[in-house]
Amino acid sequence: MRELIFATNNKHKLEEVRQLLEGKATIVSLAQAGLEGEIPETADTLQGNALQKAQWVWERTGKDCFADDTGLEVNALDGAPGVYSARYAGEHCTFDDNVNKLLDAMEGKTNRKAAFRTVICLIEGGEPRYFEGKVEGCILTERYGKGGFGYDPVFMPDRFAVSFAEMPLEVKNQISHRGLAVSQLVQYLANSK
Ligand code: IMP
Repeated sequence: MRELIFATNNKHKLEEVRQLLEGKATIVSLAQAGLEGEIPETADTLQGNALQKAQWVWERTGKDCFADDTGLEVNALDGAPGVYSARYAGEHCTFDDNVNKLLDAMEGKTNRKAAFRTVICLIEGGEPRYFEGKVEGCILTERYGKGGFGYDPVFMPDRFAVSFAEMPLEVKNQISHRGLAVSQLVQYLANSK
């Protein structure tokens, strides 16, 4: 099976994406590829960050690899936190800090529409290619559920009555931003053999 290095230090994402690509590609973690250090993420778009992270791996290994970048885009906050979702509450903040800041910013807002958007950049033979996935939903007024990570406890996808954090991972993966972006990647990999 073909090997692809996934440029992430996030164990949850690694697990999610491994499950999504099971039987289609072997996902090699940064540690397995012998890579250490902070991956730069300084672009001001999701696409720019995904490219920057994948390029970091490509430059060090010359092996096919991909990276993803995700943002939570909240309508009532003019698309914030968006590309800054990881550092919304400050440089070294936790997922909890970010959720607290979001709940504060959304206090009293009636328009609670939001979307998660993921862009994946695959570098194959040095050439970048992009895949995108988006899921629409709304921001809840408090946390629900213990699963997932990040903003999962306060995001409820459209057509569901539970938060991402209340869903089994298999269900989240079928409808999530990253799940949809990875499906595009899978389709591409299946057709390009
Ligand atoms: P990243 O750039 O893909 O690492 O994502 C940026 C931030 O978005 C993360 O630090 C999380 O706070 C949030 N995020 C990304 N994916 C998810 C998800 O599936 N659920 C909840 N939050 C997420």
